[in-house]
Amino acid sequence: EKDLLVLGIETSCDETAAAIVKNGREIVANVVASQIESHKRFGGVVPEIASRHHVEQMTIVLEETMKQANLNFSDLDAIAVTEGPGLVGALLIGVNAAKALAFAHQLPLVGVHHIAGHIYANRLVKEMEFPLLALVVSGGHTELVYMKEHGVFEVIGETRDDAAGEAYDKVARALDLPYPGGPHIDRLAQQGKPIIDLPRAWLEEGSYDFSFSGLKSAVINTLHNAKQRGEIIKREDMAASFQASVIDVLVEKTVQAAKHYQVKQVLLAGGVAANRGLRAALEERVSQLDGIELVIPPLFLCTDNAAMIAAAGTVLFQKGKRATMALNANPSLEL
Ligand code: KG4
Ligand code: ZN
Repeated sequence: EKDLLVLGIETSCDETAAAIVKNGREIVANVVASQIESHKRFGGVVPEIASRHHVEQMTIVLEETMKQANLNFSDLDAIAVTEGPGLVGALLIGVNAAKALAFAHQLPLVGVHHIAGHIYANRLVKEMEFPLLALVVSGGHTELVYMKEHGVFEVIGETRDDAAGEAYDKVARALDLPYPGGPHIDRLAQQGKPIIDLPRAWLEEGSYDFSFSGLKSAVINTLHNAKQRGEIIKREDMAASFQASVIDVLVEKTVQAAKHYQVKQVLLAGGVAANRGLRAALEERVSQLDGIELVIPPLFLCTDNAAMIAAAGTVLFQKGKRATMALNANPSLEL
């Protein structure tokens, strides 16, 4: 059978990315232009700056991808693009680039949900076995997704306020750490002790939803009160305590859901999957569950990239999903 070559394009937030994936599982080329440096001094992603960067970078990233793959557009079978959710001005650049290429080269076009992409990053590492459960934790998302088959997603839990990565970034800011704060907290947490009492939002019995804004406020209040009383709280201890609270809830709810849905695999995805504490805790807990395999992609596939979009797009393409030239960016697209 002929190989299936799909070009993926991703511009939902602050990375301009393109990639080519073969048969949904093998990376042929993968290019990511990050804008972190441009957003750092603002302490977060500035949407207008993100859009401008995407405009500047899109063509360069696409050319580099084709060069890496040593392919022509006519060698491709389809183009997959993130249609949402994300920043509308950022998404539009990728969607329009994909439409232009599909039109010019007469190629089928497939719209991909950003979270579906994060989940399918795992398929570039390990073949999926259904049913499975995916924990997606990034700067914009915290979701538990149940899958019975390829391309069908059931969100069984999600955050009611801040995403996990967002909480990391906000707490990091309160601790005077640079953006994005996740990696800094992760590092400090290894050196500190989780001795500060912080809340854990378990929510209602049996709920797989999350909430991190109360935890974030508790950290900020604790720091503020200590300062007023002239007490010193070690940053390392606050980082360790905050991280312990986040991980406890993420891991416990994931394990409960994995048992309840009797899944064969647990997949981890999103930028927060880089967190050493989270990886270690999940590895320990899932290894105690009989017959459940844990899959964690390497870091470059956990953070935003287009290989994951091409991987998800391949499956959707094989299932017959097609977009027309009317495809539009949808900042609040549902999975
Ligand atoms: O998936 P991603 O690159 O972008 C989004 O789609 O949001 O995730 C970025 C998020 C940021 O909030 C960042 O602080 C967090 O992932 N992050 C981490 C770590 N590395 C990145 N959070 C905790 N521990 C880390 N080691
Ligand atoms: Zn993402």
